[in-house]
Amino acid sequence: MNQLLARAVMRRLIAGGGASRYVSSLSASSTVVVKAPALRWLDEPAMTMTAFCCRWESRRMMSSTTTAAAEKDKDKKQGGDVKEKEGSGELEVSSYWGIMRPQITREDGSSWPWNCFMPWETYRADVSIDLTKHHVPKTFMDKFAFRTVKLLRIPTDIFFQRRYGCRAMMLETVAAVPGMVGGMLLHLRSLRKFEHSGGWIKALLDEAENERMHLMTMVELVKPKWYERLLVLVVQGVFFNCFFVLYMCSSKLAHRIVGYLEEEAIHSYTEFLNDINSGKIENIPAPAIAIDYWRLPKDARLKDVITVIRADEAHHRDVNHFASDIRFQGKELKEASAPIGYH
Ligand SMILES: [Fe+2]
Ligand SMILES: [Fe+2]
Repeated sequence: MNQLLARAVMRRLIAGGGASRYVSSLSASSTVVVKAPALRWLDEPAMTMTAFCCRWESRRMMSSTTTAAAEKDKDKKQGGDVKEKEGSGELEVSSYWGIMRPQITREDGSSWPWNCFMPWETYRADVSIDLTKHHVPKTFMDKFAFRTVKLLRIPTDIFFQRRYGCRAMMLETVAAVPGMVGGMLLHLRSLRKFEHSGGWIKALLDEAENERMHLMTMVELVKPKWYERLLVLVVQGVFFNCFFVLYMCSSKLAHRIVGYLEEEAIHSYTEFLNDINSGKIENIPAPAIAIDYWRLPKDARLKDVITVIRADEAHHRDVNHFASDIRFQGKELKEASAPIGYH
């Protein structure tokens, strides 16, 4: 009797699993992974995976129809963007989960074209920032950081020479790494130690995102060639791992190196601007993404874009030297207010 009971329990465990199932289904636009609810194997008869999927799928479809109908009603009331396919009577619902982008417009009423950033994430760069500020290396660590960055500049100068567009695009692929590594490690530390980060996770991740937007802008201006893409792949693999180890060993040194890298970025963008001013580089119209991200005038040119990017780099310089100074004083970053929204 006991053996029979044990076998029945085992069969149900194997068939029902008692755990969540992951089922792939195709939505209108992409493949989505759907997590089904946990099965209550003690209450339900054992079922095979196929039977479970069929049953779950029919529930999903019923639920989808109900949701779509509800969304259609809601949309009629609110003027949303659920549409009916012409003549088919089917609804084009962007997501089974009801995740639909609300109607977002610019200040002039035109629709917002970007999914990668929203109007409330845009800003006007403070171009009045002092571009000449420099952290004079005093300690051995500072001098090491300074010399390392100067050394790294040599192969960069040889490889790119005065091709500033290409140079900026390639360097932005590296520049967006330190903020992400620092933010990630502080995030993990916060979880491990059950403590706040003082806003530094957000500040560093914002910096990474800002750098990535520099890259998205530069890609509109310069199309990378296949060997440049290959170079990015190799450099990212090496740089990410080196910086990760460095940040774990000494965040003080890591932030100092980034501070000096940002000083070099200011220098490079100043040279870029000089070439635009002298006519060596054509002052073409600014890409649309840059006009929206930095709230530039509609007739903005390349020179305006490079000016705001350079101002961003100066802010990153300040943030990273500041972070290094805090650590140099033997304090945790969270003990000083994080420069959130410092543009
Ligand atoms: Fe940048
Ligand atoms: Fe930067």
